[in-house]
Amino acid sequence: MQNKTIKQLISIGTELLKNSSDSAKLDAQVLLGFVLNKAITYLHTWPDKLLAEASTFQYNELVQRRLSGEPISYITGMKEFWSLPFFCNPATLIPRPDTEILVEHVLIYGQSFGNEKLKCLDLGTGTGAIALSLASEMPHWIIDAVDFNNDAVALANKNAKNLDLTTVEIYQSDWFFQVSSNKSFDIIVSNPPYIDDQDIHLKQGDVRFEPLSALVAENNGLADIANIIVQAKSYLSDGGALFLEHGYKQSDKVKEIFIANGYIEAMTIKDYGGNDRVTWAKFNKDKSH
Ligand SMILES: C[S@@+](CC[C@H](N)C(=O)[O-])C[C@H]1O[C@@H](n2cnc3c(N)ncnc32)[C@H](O)[C@@H]1O
Repeated sequence: MQNKTIKQLISIGTELLKNSSDSAKLDAQVLLGFVLNKAITYLHTWPDKLLAEASTFQYNELVQRRLSGEPISYITGMKEFWSLPFFCNPATLIPRPDTEILVEHVLIYGQSFGNEKLKCLDLGTGTGAIALSLASEMPHWIIDAVDFNNDAVALANKNAKNLDLTTVEIYQSDWFFQVSSNKSFDIIVSNPPYIDDQDIHLKQGDVRFEPLSALVAENNGLADIANIIVQAKSYLSDGGALFLEHGYKQSDKVKEIFIANGYIEAMTIKDYGGNDRVTWAKFNKDKSH
C-alpha cells in the first residue's frame, strides 16, 4: 500500500461516505483525527503530511464501519454534550444537541433557588449527559441519576469520574423503584424513551444502532412519560417541577397528562430547530387533593 497524505485520505473517505452520510467530509475528518489522536485543526494545518501504513489501514477500517451506518460516536466512543466530553457505547443513547435545551431550562428554573442545595433527580440518565452537565454548572446541587440498564449506570459513573464530578449519585433503578421513598426533589428531569415502535425514523441513520430500550415506548411513545408524570408526584417537593423531553408532536398529549394529574403551569419549550421538545410543570401537593 502506497503511503498517503492527510489530504488524500480525507478526500478518499469523503468520496466513500458521500452517499451514506449527510456529513461525509466531517465524518472523514473526525475518523482520521481519532486515528491520529489529533484535533481536526491538526489535519487542516498538515494536509501534506504522509501517514504511516498502519494509520491508513486503521482509518480505512473505521470508514468501512461508518459506511455500514455505525454512528461516529460509537466508533470513536465519544460525544461532546454541553461542551463536555462524554464516553458513549451501544448500551444507551448518544446524547443529542437538542437535549441541551432541557439542561438550559432546568438551569434557568434553578436560578430562583439561589445558592440553596437544590435536590434534583435525572431519570434514565444514559451517559449521564443531563445530570453531569447540571452538576458541572451547579456543584452545590444534590443530584441523583438513575437508569435501569446496568451498563448505562457503569458508563455514567465512568463519565462522572472522567469529568471529576463527584456530586452526582448514579445508581440502577427502574424509574423510581430504587429511589428511596424518603427522598424528595425540587426538580425531576427526564429524557425518557418516547418513540412509537412503528416510527419509520427507527429504521434510518444512527438510530438503527442505538438500543430500542432507550428509544421506544408503548402507547404511541407516551407510556414512560405518563408513568413518570404519575410516579413523580410522590417524589416532588411541594411546588417542585418535572421537566420532560418528548417527541415534536407530543406536547399537547404531554400537557394533557400533566394537567390530568394535578400539575400546574404546564409549559412547552421549543428546541433549536423550532420544534416542541420539552414540557414542564409544577406539582403543588396541597392543591392536588
Ligand atoms: C432517550 S435515552 C436518554 C439518555 C440520556 N438521559 C440522554 O438524554 O442522552 C433514555 C434512557 O432511559 C433509560 N430507561 C429506559 N427505561 C427505563 C426505566 N424503566 N427505568 C430507568 N431508565 C430507563 C434507557 O436505558 C436510556 O438510557
